Amino acid sequence: MEEIWTKVDEYFAGLLAPHDEVLDGVLAANRAAGLPAIDVAPVQGKFLNLLVRIAGAKRILEIGTLGGYSTIHLARAAGEQGKVVTLEYSPEHAEVALANLAAAGVLSRVEVKVGAALESLPLVQQEMTAPFDFIFIDADKRNNPAYLEWALRLSRPGSVIVVDNVVRGGRVLESDGKNEDIAGIRRFAELLAAEPRLSSTALQTVGAKGYDGFSISLVVS
Ligand code: SAH
Ligand code: DHB
Ligand code: MG
Repeated sequence: MEEIWTKVDEYFAGLLAPHDEVLDGVLAANRAAGLPAIDVAPVQGKFLNLLVRIAGAKRILEIGTLGGYSTIHLARAAGEQGKVVTLEYSPEHAEVALANLAAAGVLSRVEVKVGAALESLPLVQQEMTAPFDFIFIDADKRNNPAYLEWALRLSRPGSVIVVDNVVRGGRVLESDGKNEDIAGIRRFAELLAAEPRLSSTALQTVGAKGYDGFSISLVVS
């Protein structure tokens, strides 16, 4: 099945999320630097771009930068007056991301904070002047429950919270707690279900990046 998923992904990407030199260069730079190939797929980047524009989001928080491929989609969607704060644990990943963001011409609207996100988030809270309109969570999955709490703290009614990789090839069904990342995704999903301030769903995706999915939440109060 993976082969046809990839072909269909490439078909729609070719029509709807066409490559540009900048994005091709970013992916090439990420692979050349030895970063894992876990950037969102092109059609998923376009999906994030559309969600940001549908929400009219200008102030965006991302947790998990890697080489900045998703960050560039978010920053482009936010527009010239937009601002993206993105959190990355690895100084090596952040260095690659900074070069990519500069090459994409969006560095002036992006701030990369290096360090464990749970250490950066209190600083983000201190420094912020208004709530975030859009929050994309795509880092260490075991901390998704804590990231969701922070997302609630840093957002407002009307904000959108998107979380990547909530399916993991179906491993989300493993309830034995043996894998900390899967356990984190499951606790996160239970928090979504129990959280009256959020209206949420989760969608499975297949494609060039295999079988995974996103959750999407609207902050309603
Ligand atoms: N959003 C990126 C992919 C992110 S991959 C894209 O689609 O292009 C996940 C990233 O989260 C990795 O770069 C990893 O170093 C980072 N990460 C892992 N644990 C983290 C933590 N505790 N705090 C911040 N970033 C973390
Ligand atoms: C992994 C992490 C991601 O953020 C992703 O999009 C895909 C895979 C991982 O840790 O395997
Ligand atoms: Mg991801």
